[in-house]
Amino acid sequence: MPDIDGLKEAKQFYADTPQKTEGFFLKGSNSLDWGMKNRLARIFNPKSGRTVMLAIDHGYFQGPTTGLERVDLNIMPFAQYADTLMLTRGILRSIIPPSYPKPIVLRVSGGTSILKELSNEDIAVGIEESIRLNVCAMAVQVFIGGEFEKESIINMTKMVDMGNRYGIPTLAVTAVGKDMARDARYFRLATRICAELGAHYVKTYYVEKDFETVCASCPVPIVMAGGKKIPEPDALTMAYNAVQQGASGVDMGRNIFQSESPIAMLKAIRAVVHENETPEKAFELYMTLKNQKIEK
Ligand code: R5P
Repeated sequence: MPDIDGLKEAKQFYADTPQKTEGFFLKGSNSLDWGMKNRLARIFNPKSGRTVMLAIDHGYFQGPTTGLERVDLNIMPFAQYADTLMLTRGILRSIIPPSYPKPIVLRVSGGTSILKELSNEDIAVGIEESIRLNVCAMAVQVFIGGEFEKESIINMTKMVDMGNRYGIPTLAVTAVGKDMARDARYFRLATRICAELGAHYVKTYYVEKDFETVCASCPVPIVMAGGKKIPEPDALTMAYNAVQQGASGVDMGRNIFQSESPIAMLKAIRAVVHENETPEKAFELYMTLKNQKIEK
């Protein structure tokens, strides 16, 4: 109980200064609740409005992927340079120190392996786990046009409902079947369906032609997926084009952790995403850092 004898008459009302009511910086997110916005503001940098997510969740359907054989040794030395780590609860609990300061995006769909039909996923992690693990978003795979399209969409809407209850955003990850066309038309369809059904942000692949129409027609932020490893200059160009054409950042895995110098690549990607650095300049940065052999 404060000592009421020492109370001074308060005079700092600033009656002439109206209280500011600011809009939230992130596309399509202004009507969300405080906790949801707070989590999104940890994933997306409020200054640049963008994020560099590091995806290391591949093991949930394909086991020890090249570059992720030992997350403690392969990833932890540079994980601090990502804005967000996207991973499974198994790796989170077994490897990531609870003192790790960056926001976590938790993979919550699963139930299939590369040996079977990948679209046959279910919700594999309950909402209580996401709360218990203090995550900033939950990632669900959505297979538009896939064999289990409806089930995967409903997995997402269930997580959106549960996440809305507790203030945890849902990231819809658009997955493309092997035989499906990866073009803007498909990604406009897939991302828009995810957003219409409540996803708070959507991860999708980059396409050379008309990617800006994918971003423009999706009412919530888009983050670009990296895909299979390509040469560093090409990956930097792809990330540059994606953000210049409207993406709110990247969620990349193999193009970072399979790079010859993951830390240099992560820093070069950061320059492209947060500082609008050109791919050429970012590649110079990559080479400089790589040659300095900065690995910690
Ligand atoms: C999608 O299936 C998963 O989230 C992947 O583990 C992740 O998106 C892959 O990242 P990348 O394609 O950049 O290696």
